[in-house]
Amino acid sequence: MKPRELAPGIRSVGAVDWDRRMFDMLIPLPQGTSYNSYLVTGAEKTALFDTVDPTMTAVLFEHLGDLQRLDYVVVQHVEQDHSGSLPAVLARFPGAQVLCSSRAVDMLATHVHVSGDIVRAVADGEEVDLGGKTLRFLYTPWAHWPETMSTFIPEDGVLLSCDMFGSHLATSDLIGDEEEIQPAAKRYFAEIMMPFGSMLRKNLEKVEPLGARLIGPSHGPVYGRPQLAFDLYREWIDGPPHNLVLIPYVSMHGSTKVMVDRLEGALVDRGIKVERLDLQGADLGRFAFSLVDAATIVAGAPTVLQQPHPLMRAALMLADELKPKARFFSALVSYGWATKALESMIAAVADLKAELVEPVVVKGLPTAEDLASVDALAAAIAAKHAEAGLV
Ligand code: FEO
Repeated sequence: MKPRELAPGIRSVGAVDWDRRMFDMLIPLPQGTSYNSYLVTGAEKTALFDTVDPTMTAVLFEHLGDLQRLDYVVVQHVEQDHSGSLPAVLARFPGAQVLCSSRAVDMLATHVHVSGDIVRAVADGEEVDLGGKTLRFLYTPWAHWPETMSTFIPEDGVLLSCDMFGSHLATSDLIGDEEEIQPAAKRYFAEIMMPFGSMLRKNLEKVEPLGARLIGPSHGPVYGRPQLAFDLYREWIDGPPHNLVLIPYVSMHGSTKVMVDRLEGALVDRGIKVERLDLQGADLGRFAFSLVDAATIVAGAPTVLQQPHPLMRAALMLADELKPKARFFSALVSYGWATKALESMIAAVADLKAELVEPVVVKGLPTAEDLASVDALAAAIAAKHAEAGLV
């Protein structure tokens, strides 16, 4: 995608990565992504906001064209998808100074080996004038790492928010289509931002009153209506969970699946929405997406030797780390001769602090009595949702 102007003197010069299919070797990217970089040109000085993933350095350079002078490279976030091209940019513009948050100084030295007098930490709230373009730096920690900061350019009402409000969405649109951006932004929130809710709340209090006209994140399209981004984040952080049960499951010989099928029907009969996800070959980003709203997680797993199937262990470990707002947890466990799977599954989600609803543990193929226990689990979940006012 060619460089385009967000506002006079503010150009998007980053790279759209249509073909990338995995991030951090963990998160599938069904819609690709972008590494956004913004060139801000004042009457006297020029600043580049963030670089790009090192695989896309050539695209950034092509978009910078014959730019002769760069005064500042602002590193809002040290993760390599934004700082990876920094050494190459500094090699091309040896006179440029790196501006970053105080916590980023050491991280730049360790992560991309950029250090020394060339790096200057700016203070929270500090302003740098490019000549008719004021860069107001705002520390917005834990969106996504501790050093992360954002920048507001008041003359144009542009907020450059780095990972915050981002989306893994490759598109030719500069300004995002609101229908298209919402599911992508939610998925990104789930994968990247959800563990940091309390810090994001503070960051929102800091950036929302600025009255921004545009938000330029570091992934995905620009928000032409910033209030949409603020409202979505408030809902995902502080909105109540939905009357929704998420059932991640694995089934080796069908016993667990019989219970999952039964639970799904029994929950639907009680007016509860269900999302089920077979973890075999599953998209963990989709799992994270569903975790944003689910009031209850019911994990269905067979026993491998003594423990839950490894796919379930990985999924529960991820759920525990992402810190979703699920209030209730339960399990459907099957086994052949002995099992410690239930204890391990409960321990795996200890940090969720979700209330345990009586699980169902079945030896072999579920009997009619076992399925009645599954029905009882559905009834118990329905009662919990009703008590919590989620219905
Ligand atoms: Fe897009 Fe946390 O890097």
